[in-house]
Amino acid sequence: MKSTRSLLQSRLQQAMVAAFGADLATADPMLVPASNPKFGDYQANGAMALAKPLKQNPRAIATQIVQHLDVSDLCQPPEIAGPGFINLRLNPDYLERQLQGLQADKRLGIAPVKQPQTAVVDFSSPNIAKEMHVGHLRSTIIGDSIARVLEFMGHEVRRLNHVGDWGTQFGMLITHLQEVCPQAIADSKSVDIGDLVAFYRQAKARFDADDHFKAQSRQAVVALQAGDEQARQAWQALCEQSRQAFQTIYDRLDIRIEERGESFYNPLLPEVVQDLEAQGLLEENQGALVVFAEGFTNKAGEPLPLIVRKSDGGYNYATTDLAAIRYRIHQDGADRIIYVVDAGQSNHFAQVFQVARKAGWVPPEVELVHVPFGVVQGEDGKKFKTRSGDTVRLQDLLDEAVSRARVDLEARIAEEGRQESEEFIQAVAEAVGIGAVKYADLSQNRTSNYIFSFDKMLALQGNTAPYLLYAYVRVQGISRKGGIDFEHLSAQAPICLEDESEFTLAKHILQLDEVLQEVATDLFPNRLCQYLFELSQKFNQFYDRCSVLQTADPQRTSRLILCDLTARTLKLGLNLLGIQVLERM
Ligand code: ARG
Repeated sequence: MKSTRSLLQSRLQQAMVAAFGADLATADPMLVPASNPKFGDYQANGAMALAKPLKQNPRAIATQIVQHLDVSDLCQPPEIAGPGFINLRLNPDYLERQLQGLQADKRLGIAPVKQPQTAVVDFSSPNIAKEMHVGHLRSTIIGDSIARVLEFMGHEVRRLNHVGDWGTQFGMLITHLQEVCPQAIADSKSVDIGDLVAFYRQAKARFDADDHFKAQSRQAVVALQAGDEQARQAWQALCEQSRQAFQTIYDRLDIRIEERGESFYNPLLPEVVQDLEAQGLLEENQGALVVFAEGFTNKAGEPLPLIVRKSDGGYNYATTDLAAIRYRIHQDGADRIIYVVDAGQSNHFAQVFQVARKAGWVPPEVELVHVPFGVVQGEDGKKFKTRSGDTVRLQDLLDEAVSRARVDLEARIAEEGRQESEEFIQAVAEAVGIGAVKYADLSQNRTSNYIFSFDKMLALQGNTAPYLLYAYVRVQGISRKGGIDFEHLSAQAPICLEDESEFTLAKHILQLDEVLQEVATDLFPNRLCQYLFELSQKFNQFYDRCSVLQTADPQRTSRLILCDLTARTLKLGLNLLGIQVLERM
């Protein structure tokens, strides 16, 4: 099924060509949803932009477009307003037919793209032996949602975890491990190193205080890079321990991701530097090898180079990212590489992308995108910390969301005098708590900082997961109450829209396609959240105004279908945000 918007778009284009000739084949009719329902459903503003090239007044241009515009199967007669806006209002029977089409379609009318791309989504990417912090949580949640949307649209997606598992810090970690826990090295799977973060701190403290330890650590790095068996096993043990801790979080958040850490690219690093050298892009700068990218300066206004080999001969984070770009394009066949990483790394990615392009590793049609996001703040507007000032452990944060959801739920159950099993309570609390954390993050414009508030994210009112989940539950309640099996509502049953709120809801349901296309292009999941929030509001308005079960057919079935379509849209949309719906809550 073609979305209404793309249908109107192509009809307008045809009309422009018919009115003014083939020169206008690529002119944009500038079709947008109407800002106010008073003006209809869509508005085309293209006439204004054509005034200059066509040397005519925009109203006259709009008139000629409308004279050639054939949309009678979709819309009421177009109207021209103001300086030359073309207002379009959809026909009721067009809407009814469209809804019927959705009703019969498992994918709710959203066809997979005709030309699927291979997209790499680089997200989550915590660092070994360090805490996975709230920044990584944001990346994990946003990255997963982007991957889900692209997958649903039919693209081939590789979800890659660019774990920080390589670098000089492993020298001190290995040395410390060899001393405190030698058996961990012999059997990298079964030994519990304990709290890895505390372990990291101990190793760091010794490194800073003890010269002998420092020297040993340096040797350990060399040994590790040379492939020394002992050093490798120690490194493995450390990675394995972190991996298990990360996996607990991923399982709880229902995240699928493939680990391909920095170490994977290690053998490819010398080649990166050689290739840059061969192309004359390398320069020496205070003993390091660097590439100067345009447009980057330090605070003093001096050009800021990208270091690709340090003065000690070691490679770094940037070299690895350059190698990763080459590998992802040439081995993975990526058409689009998406990096979901905090905004603090914007310069890093801008430099790396520029250097990779300069070096000719990126075919022009391949897209490299940094998807930046802001920092997580506490309700005091400062960096998110525990009361005692420590970084918040993700496991604790999720536990707290779930236990607060549970308190709210138990209160509601008591108030309504319901009897519920422990199993039910636990499952609902987990789903609501986790869903609330995810939704709170996704519903913000990701580029801004985001204030973490349990109270706000768990509220039953407002743009929150509980509000949307509740709208879904409301529909399931109708089906239980009326003994309706939504799956067997006839796809042949006519839809007859009557009340204003039915029209509003119906039109909104039909916009999912446009919204998903937008998210797939612009990579802003908050657009989908906003859509689902408005869908829930419009559903609630409809349900408050129109009786469903108490009405006679054909209205009854028609309204039931609207309910079902709302629920299915919510379920799909929430699923694309990584949030599970509930039948009851
Ligand atoms: N490990 C990095 C960090 O914690 C994020 C890596 C992001 N991905 C990348 N390809 N650089 O900051």
